Amino acid sequence: MELPYHEDVSPGSGGLPPRAWYAGSDAAVLPLNGSWRFRLSPGADTEDEAFAADGFDAAAWDEVVVPGHWVLQGHGAPVYTNQSYPFPVDPPRVPTENPTGDHLRCFDLPADWPADGGATLRFDGVESCARVWLNGTPLGDFKGSRLPHEFAVGPLLRPRDNVLAVRVHQWSSGSYLEDQDQWWLPGIFRDVTLLHRPEGAVGDFFTHASYDHRDGTGTLRVDSEVAGRVTVPELGIDVATGESVTVAVEPWSAERPRLYDGVLATPGERVPLRIGFRTVAVVDGLITVNGRPVLFRGVNRHEFHPETGRAVGPDTMRADVRLMKLHNINAVRTSHYPPHPAFLDLCDELGLWVIDECDLETHGFTARGWEGNPVDDARWTPALLDRAERTVERDKNHPSVIVWSLGNECGTGRGLTAMAEWIRDRDPGRLLHYEGDPSCADTDMYSRMYADHAEVERIGRREDGGPERRRGLPFILCEYAHAMGNGPGGLSDYQRLFETYERLQGGFVWEWVDHGLKHPQLGYAYGGDFGEELHDGNFVCDGLCFPDRMPSPGLVEYKRVIQPVRFAYDAGTGTVRVTNLYDVADLSELAFEWTYTVDGPVGPGGPLAPGGPRGDTPSASGPLDVPPELGPGESVELKLPDPPAAAGDAETWLHLSAMVCEETNWAPLDHLVACADFPVTARPPVPVAAGERPRRRGYDLTLGPGRFDVRTGELRALGDIALKSAPRLDVWRAPTDNDDGAPWQPDTRYGPLWRTLGLHRMRHRLDGVQADGEALTVRTRVAPAARDLALRTVYRWTSDGTALRLAVSVTPEGRWDEVPLPRLGVRLGLPAAIDRADWFGGDGEAYPDTRAASRMGWWSSWVERMQTPYVRPQENGARADVRWAELRAGFGGPGVRVVGDPAFWFTARPWSTEELDAATHRTDLTPGDTVWVHLDHGQRGIGSQSCGPGVLPRYELWAEPAEFAFTFSVAEAGR
Ligand code: GAL
Repeated sequence: MELPYHEDVSPGSGGLPPRAWYAGSDAAVLPLNGSWRFRLSPGADTEDEAFAADGFDAAAWDEVVVPGHWVLQGHGAPVYTNQSYPFPVDPPRVPTENPTGDHLRCFDLPADWPADGGATLRFDGVESCARVWLNGTPLGDFKGSRLPHEFAVGPLLRPRDNVLAVRVHQWSSGSYLEDQDQWWLPGIFRDVTLLHRPEGAVGDFFTHASYDHRDGTGTLRVDSEVAGRVTVPELGIDVATGESVTVAVEPWSAERPRLYDGVLATPGERVPLRIGFRTVAVVDGLITVNGRPVLFRGVNRHEFHPETGRAVGPDTMRADVRLMKLHNINAVRTSHYPPHPAFLDLCDELGLWVIDECDLETHGFTARGWEGNPVDDARWTPALLDRAERTVERDKNHPSVIVWSLGNECGTGRGLTAMAEWIRDRDPGRLLHYEGDPSCADTDMYSRMYADHAEVERIGRREDGGPERRRGLPFILCEYAHAMGNGPGGLSDYQRLFETYERLQGGFVWEWVDHGLKHPQLGYAYGGDFGEELHDGNFVCDGLCFPDRMPSPGLVEYKRVIQPVRFAYDAGTGTVRVTNLYDVADLSELAFEWTYTVDGPVGPGGPLAPGGPRGDTPSASGPLDVPPELGPGESVELKLPDPPAAAGDAETWLHLSAMVCEETNWAPLDHLVACADFPVTARPPVPVAAGERPRRRGYDLTLGPGRFDVRTGELRALGDIALKSAPRLDVWRAPTDNDDGAPWQPDTRYGPLWRTLGLHRMRHRLDGVQADGEALTVRTRVAPAARDLALRTVYRWTSDGTALRLAVSVTPEGRWDEVPLPRLGVRLGLPAAIDRADWFGGDGEAYPDTRAASRMGWWSSWVERMQTPYVRPQENGARADVRWAELRAGFGGPGVRVVGDPAFWFTARPWSTEELDAATHRTDLTPGDTVWVHLDHGQRGIGSQSCGPGVLPRYELWAEPAEFAFTFSVAEAGR
């Protein structure tokens, strides 16, 4: 049976061969973006071509914006699946129900459109298959959604009333090659452009610009389909195309993205060139650029915008690159397809190493043991080669692109080898990546995703065995640290490995941005919210940024973990050791500063210095004279001025910071690049509030500022503040995506186990209330129904008349050795009017394995602002190392002060854990009449089990006998 064009395996017909993409030439250009006429049909009616004929009246049709996806413009709905094809797997056939969008655009040529020469019509991205007509004449069809496709249209153009007709099928044989983990979003989602092609215009060209680090010279050769001249005025270069020239240059790197402006001039066109000289090679088993090994501090980036899907405008692209740079990210893998071409211009300009990935994934074939996998079926090879060629030809002139990736999760097969051979032949100047073939037969590096720390260490030590060829290769984690929901945990531990073993050349966090789609009722929608019959829920929200690109705590953590400067402090000698961790750059772009604080606000980069009772404590700061010429890998030791004397119960901290000292194209002056905090003095012991005797009247018992109910042993009020809920033991947290884990992960998934055990429904049995001598002692047994597991918990209250101390002692009973606790602490409820918190401890969200970025200081916030808005609500917002916290009604209103002994994890929220746990979207959460305060002695780590290893053993929270205390006092209004 002959299949229609959208179902046959061919890449398309009628188009021009792929070539280099460029913008800004002096040839005329007519963008065809904007409003197009649109009609949606339920099936791929390939017969009815009437709409493409001249004179067709589409006045009654709807309109859509191009670039865009019709499913995000009121026609049909998006579908999210991770690896499952949302249609029966019967390649290359697709369902009869195949939403098909007919698009029509009428245009006139501008008055000054040149009469001579030809014209090319370019589509930068259409999902998933298109057939095109101009003025009634069929031009051809194509597949390859995130790749450019061009047609020669010169003779068909007329000055006025041109009609461009594009029929787009959601499903095609190409869909089998595009099974990436993301929304399925049909439409013309990238630019459509008409390009004038003068006689003698530039065709394809290939800029070869290498750098020889031994003598500091660059060699430039521009091969051009149409001969011409290449000029680079700054370098005095004026040569013919195809001719090599060697001159002294500054090299291009992600850290110092030095570009030289040039021009390629053929008889008919002048094309601007942005030339970066650099040489990429594997030398002695290491990926090097310009002779130096590089360490990827990378991120995987899908193209995504919460309103426009994969139609991503220039502002979003620039914002992405800037945000990456501002967070110390130096590399991006364009998962899992070539991005909009302008994105790579930004990577060249602002400086990011790029792994440019081909638009290819056949993941859904795993369900059939890879049987029928197109990458191992010769009939599909032309389609694969077409994709490889379109990727390489389009992007080959970008210095930032240093690695080509064949695609993602396709298993193995001869089609991949054919692609690799073609790429190597066409572009020997770059390296090849592909993760899915453990033999590494076609690649220059060994790449894995989500390997755990222990395995990565074995690979670093070269103890991982494996095929001969692989053993000699450098290693990268093309994906790691799954940033779904709260997390990822364990980043520092990976980074330590990367910095220890030279074979480990870093990795790329999965992934950059949550793909939550803006939704009127749900806030951000994820899989299943559009009624999909098959979907993968919120697995699509796994980014370091929220959908609106607000950095998540995961991104802030990553920034710190990969900061290019390491600080070490020796309190004994008062010296600091500063190490340059850049791969290429010295430290001349940074200014360093030291600050001592005495239980007070931190220095640069800190949000607020709240003032109040301790805001006026002494502090001192000054510049740290780090030699600007300190090279990569070098260290310097510097003596610091003596710290100020700490008084009374205050403690002294040293804060070190490195800031941008000259504004750059991505960073403002004083942007904080790296920092570290060190304790200078130990925390003074917390005085034990005791001595006062409990006084009883009826069922009321008073102890210092506390009023208790003697029947329950519960604290009812603190001074004038009536508690909504008395402090009591709490072990439950709303499981994070990482607690829940992914079903395919080998480690135990504790989130589901917690629920089975009933940790979310612990009951508190009162065993005795005893008021004698100086203490009120309340004995309880905390346990879930149907189990014999329990936590014997004793609360011992004492007071010195002003402060009220609660000492908690916990003794596990039964077998707790198979399940860690989510948290261990007390929870209390305060009236909702108490809506503001001050605390001395870590600033932002932190958990045991996500606390690298936590900055020690005095912080202040509205309780509502302490919530991290994960798209699917879950445990969030804990602050680490908190010495004391104050909760007040507004600025300076009355409230409660808590001092921890020892320091504690502090969380406050306007809703309960139970509400948080029940919510599926942010919009399910509304503040109630209680502010819930968690004072935790322990928190379980976060890990990355939503698609990776779980919590490392040292960050687990096992149930063990524990003692901890809090001292409560009344915070008077106005102080
Ligand atoms: C990887 C895959 C990504 C994404 C990720 C989990 O296996 O390459 O596309 O699915 O897992 O979010």
